[in-house]
Amino acid sequence: MRRAFQTLARSRDHYILVAEREGQVVGTVHLLIFRHLGHGLHPAAIVENVVVRGAYRSQGVGEAMLAEAARIARLRRCYKMALTTNVARKRAHRFYERLGWRRTHYGYSFDLE
Ligand SMILES: CC(C)(COP(=O)(O)OP(=O)(O)OC[C@H]1O[C@@H](n2cnc3c(N)ncnc32)[C@H](O)[C@@H]1OP(=O)(O)O)[C@@H](O)C(=O)NCCC(=O)NCCS
Repeated sequence: MRRAFQTLARSRDHYILVAEREGQVVGTVHLLIFRHLGHGLHPAAIVENVVVRGAYRSQGVGEAMLAEAARIARLRRCYKMALTTNVARKRAHRFYERLGWRRTHYGYSFDLE
């Protein structure tokens, strides 16, 4: 995991956001900036790994991390952020929709391993 963080830290297009409480990491968001071919290479952002440690949920940690992700994405001139979430994660769907994320696309995944 340390090596993974070090690798991503070398890229200016990857941001690992962490939420801390009492010196402990209690939440993570991975923000990835890329240039969108269909939008004239305008930057866009993908959000992955949105996770808050169980005991720290429902305290606004997830909302704060996504607000920070949006701040960075705006700073990087992204025209949108996008994410996919498992269809079974009903709580996560409510969470995103409460924060203003709109369900605009179907997500598909294709297993390669
Ligand atoms: C989805 C997830 C990231 C949300 O993180 P979180 O820190 O609990 O999010 P928030 O506290 O900002 O909001 C969660 C709920 O708490 C409520 N809440 C937020 N602050 C609150 C407060 N101060 N007092 C009471 N309730 C509060 C919100 O209304 C929200 O309700 P909702 O889930 O019905 O929308 C978290 O539940 C999680 O890690 N889930 C497992 C992993 C997962 O599903 N990740 C998404 C993968 S795409």
